[in-house]
Amino acid sequence: MSNVVVVGTQWGDEGKGKITDYLAQEADVVVRYQGGNNAGHTIVFDNQKFALHLLPSGCLSKNKLNIMANGMVINPKALIEELKGLEERGIKGINLKISNRAHIVFPYHMTLDGAFEQSAGSKKIGTTKKGIGPAYTDKYFRSGIRMGDLLDSKYFAERLKAALSIKNNVLKMLGLDSMDFKELFEEFMGYKEVLGHMITDTSVLLNEALEADKKVLFEGAQGVMLCTDHGSYPYVTSSSPTAAAVPLYTGIAPSYIQNVLGITKAYTTRVGEGAFPTEFEDEIAHTIREVGNEYGTTTKRPRRIGWLDTVVLRHAKRVSGISGLSIMLLDVLSGLKTLKICTHYIMDGNKIDYIPSIIDHLDNVEPIYTEMPGWDEDITGVVAFEELPQNAKNYLLEIQKLTGINVKIFSVGPDRQQTIELESIL
Ligand code: IMP
Repeated sequence: MSNVVVVGTQWGDEGKGKITDYLAQEADVVVRYQGGNNAGHTIVFDNQKFALHLLPSGCLSKNKLNIMANGMVINPKALIEELKGLEERGIKGINLKISNRAHIVFPYHMTLDGAFEQSAGSKKIGTTKKGIGPAYTDKYFRSGIRMGDLLDSKYFAERLKAALSIKNNVLKMLGLDSMDFKELFEEFMGYKEVLGHMITDTSVLLNEALEADKKVLFEGAQGVMLCTDHGSYPYVTSSSPTAAAVPLYTGIAPSYIQNVLGITKAYTTRVGEGAFPTEFEDEIAHTIREVGNEYGTTTKRPRRIGWLDTVVLRHAKRVSGISGLSIMLLDVLSGLKTLKICTHYIMDGNKIDYIPSIIDHLDNVEPIYTEMPGWDEDITGVVAFEELPQNAKNYLLEIQKLTGINVKIFSVGPDRQQTIELESIL
């Protein structure tokens, strides 16, 4: 058995899509296990750029089984559009299976996401407004409707009627238009026509694949600092991207998980609101934003920029068991005179090496940095660790030392080819 979980170790957008696509070339099965179309996974190969939001990144490699697992929340309209978009670009015949237990994102979830954000004013989360939070709320409130429910139109109608009877009251209270049962029912029966044959018990498929010694890649979305349990709560998403969530969100035994690859940007970014200790906004941040194209894949918002924070990385290691690191966008730092790495925080005069649970406390910590000289060379054509300038090598070695995790991959550009694997992963 050979498998790996790809986990974002920061606030998302670390480059998980690129690494999943790269590793997918070796894998037999690629599984997206949480989140929905709040995610944006960018993949570049053969001079073509793809942005996937819902589909597992394995869809861009031939002959893979791609699974959208039960931990996801799925907007069927967005999924069909994504599949069509790939088809128009010549990517056809994707082997895709959708969990019958994955929850559906309905239009009312999106409307409510926007309305709740608006009414929160300065306390807004800065969500992607894709309805993710309201859909997971319904899942745990037990009023959610699942992909498998679409296959039984009578049951689906009952669930939708019950949900709408509550949702329309809430929409009315917020001064918003109510939604019509018949229209929604017909719209979703249309989605069933397209997606119905892909909906199945993916836990059974996945267990069969693992028992048959297939190579399985689990693709997380967002990052550990956006985890509902271990992230910078309440400025988080509504699911857990950690490796601990994989068994629950896919229906496999925890003992099956072997490797966890932590995807880490060579610096830090975040979109949306919330504490961000190493954030800075000056000429250097501006350069990083432009060189790294740090604008949201899903929302196009400019990302906030910060130095690499190893308190965050050690937190990710603790709560998600990271066994190797993949350092992304190293090339973006070329040309910077001095690089800073946060080693720990000072809180109330004390040195701390953990993430405070209260967001205001995290907001007020003082990050302590070690400084390292940068490098001027263009490293986008580097194909081996030995070819890196000495200061870039030192930077990677320092990350390894401060986190106690081996760097297994580093990336020097967006293309599949610009990925240097130091240790075999799958
Ligand atoms: P939601 O997931 O849309 O509810 O948004 C909650 C928080 O997670 C917001 O700060 C979003 O910006 C952030 N977020 C959600 N998905 C991603 C992602 O894929 N990358 C980075 N941030 C994300």
